[in-house]
Amino acid sequence: MEKKVVPVNGVSRTLIVNPETSLAQVIREQIGLTGTKIGCGGAQCGACSVIMDGKVVRSCSTKMRRVPEGAAITTIEGIGTADNLHPVQVAWMVHGGAQCGFCSPGFIVSAKALLDENPKPTRDQVTDWFQKHHNACRCTGYQPLVDAVMDAARVVRGEMTLQDLEYKLPPDGKIWGGKYPRPSSVPKVTGTWDFGADLGLKLPPDTLQLALVQAKVSHANILGIDTSEAEKMPGVYKVVTHRDVKGKNRITGLITFPTNKGDGWDRPILSDTKVFQFGDAIAIVCADTVEHAKAAVDKVKVELEELPAYMSAPAAMASDAIEIHPGTRNIYYECTIEKGADTQPLMEKAAYMVEGDYYVGRQPHLPMEPDGGFAYYDEEGHLTIHSKSIGIHLHHAMICPGLGIEPDKLRIVQNPTGGTFGYKFSPTIEALLGVACMATGKPVFLNFDYFQKITYTGKRSPFFINLKMGADKEGKILAMESDWSCDHGPYSEFGDLVTLRGAQFIGAGYGIPNIR
Ligand code: FES
Ligand code: FES
Repeated sequence: MEKKVVPVNGVSRTLIVNPETSLAQVIREQIGLTGTKIGCGGAQCGACSVIMDGKVVRSCSTKMRRVPEGAAITTIEGIGTADNLHPVQVAWMVHGGAQCGFCSPGFIVSAKALLDENPKPTRDQVTDWFQKHHNACRCTGYQPLVDAVMDAARVVRGEMTLQDLEYKLPPDGKIWGGKYPRPSSVPKVTGTWDFGADLGLKLPPDTLQLALVQAKVSHANILGIDTSEAEKMPGVYKVVTHRDVKGKNRITGLITFPTNKGDGWDRPILSDTKVFQFGDAIAIVCADTVEHAKAAVDKVKVELEELPAYMSAPAAMASDAIEIHPGTRNIYYECTIEKGADTQPLMEKAAYMVEGDYYVGRQPHLPMEPDGGFAYYDEEGHLTIHSKSIGIHLHHAMICPGLGIEPDKLRIVQNPTGGTFGYKFSPTIEALLGVACMATGKPVFLNFDYFQKITYTGKRSPFFINLKMGADKEGKILAMESDWSCDHGPYSEFGDLVTLRGAQFIGAGYGIPNIR
């Protein structure tokens, strides 16, 4: 441990720190200033930006040993407060810079440092500054952020008053189509909008900290799970496995169409018989600290019999591929489309015909905020799960039977949530929190790091497409034939719906009269 005295937002702080701990962790966990967010945790996104001795630093990758004694640190809490906003914060609100708001504190801190150094930047200099400091935003498209900095700079230079910059209700009182700041904008620009990871740090001290044992292979039979060594590790309260799950230990994929060949009960909450994908959750270590929980993860012994890993739809569709879910075909949903006349004679007669094979790749959604949540029994005895679910009622229905809980005994609450870009339409962390809370009877907190976020959560599904179009000599498309496979990974969850998108969207935008 090291003792350091550093002024944080002008207040001298005596800190006893592990020199290997990050500045972000110390700011958030030891000083309690959760306005500094941790997104990637790997120096890539700028969400954790603070000013140290006049320079913007990414605090997630700044170890305390690199923080000089007496270094002046400014976090978002030191830029301005709700009743004394800095021009950058007001400009952020007026220009719609704080949308989900997860990136906003880091951006605002970075912009403040820019204006301290250069109060008259050009738009290109603003863009370059954010590029140089790795400030990333998934919601805004950046233009409103540059607009905000340019306006804030005018105020800083005295060319505009803060009152001129502030939003004013138009005389007719109408806000539609105007720049009315979203109601959450003040907490978002001041860093007081608590996301799941922030709320998790403010739970009672007896809250168990969770860490996942995740699969490191893509396809395997599970022969045994031995938790005995892990349970003896310091601070470990319990290691939860599928044996502790009271319900059917499955998350239902909510089959959308009856022609689906699976039953939708294919995704385990905690792996029991098989690993279906890299990152599957096999066990949950519940301990007094995150460090203790993580230290015990590697002590859980999982005996596996590896199976062939099918890393694409064509590989899983090959004639010699084994059934990933025994009893359900790997091609578990098929759909067709027929519009207008038979396309084959039209293709033969067409003045022009083009055909090609196309691949639309797998995409992680890459929000700024990783997954985080917590669970507890409330004063009425309801299991209460807080997460960044954007479908709380849907997710409630999807996890109740797996947990083994009556629907009226489970509540799901949406935390203030960073942009999800679609991935949180699926339940992710909810059932894991529920299982851990039910197995221990204690409040529990689980915060994915970015690697876990990427390996555990669903992705935009790749499409393999063969496409043929025939046109007349004026170039008008007469006929289209498409043959597509959607690689939805090992779990059915909305996979039939996504596969149907091929029928809906391939060729969409053109008036094609004949389709097969
Ligand atoms: S750069 Fe620190 S959290 Fe992303
Ligand atoms: S407002 Fe920037 S990531 Fe959402």
